[in-house]
Amino acid sequence: MDTQDLAINTEVAALLQGMPRDRSQLLPALWRVVDRYQELTPGVIDAVSQSLNIPYAEVYGVASFYTLFDNAPGKVPVHICTDVMCALQGAGSLQEAAEDAALGRPVAVRESACLGQCDHAPAAWIGSQVMRRATPEAVRAAVKAVGHE
Ligand code: FES
Repeated sequence: MDTQDLAINTEVAALLQGMPRDRSQLLPALWRVVDRYQELTPGVIDAVSQSLNIPYAEVYGVASFYTLFDNAPGKVPVHICTDVMCALQGAGSLQEAAEDAALGRPVAVRESACLGQCDHAPAAWIGSQVMRRATPEAVRAAVKAVGHE
């Protein structure tokens, strides 16, 4: 293990300090570390694996399953839910609005599976803001506001 790996392990252990060491904490743990590192590199995944005492393959499997963790370095993630409920409520127009507004902005627009907001579809997740009953106008404004907060 080199010094960079050691530093990441130490930092991730500090980020996850106090969290119970079990599988139920894997998603909250991944949220914490992706908020800090913006991306889940093999080194970060390994550090989570060691901190929570969960096999690397299991952490990697969860991290790679959820597109919400697939963030582009240096860009604010814009996740537009295109799952069934949101698709029926106009997610396509949200996607178009997000992509239009994203031109020249430090954002990465991605289609997402269900964001757990089905009762308030369509939904989007822009940076740390969850938008319920989102409209194309609201998504456009939120994307254009990235970097101006
Ligand atoms: S289907 Fe979009 S939030 Fe569930």
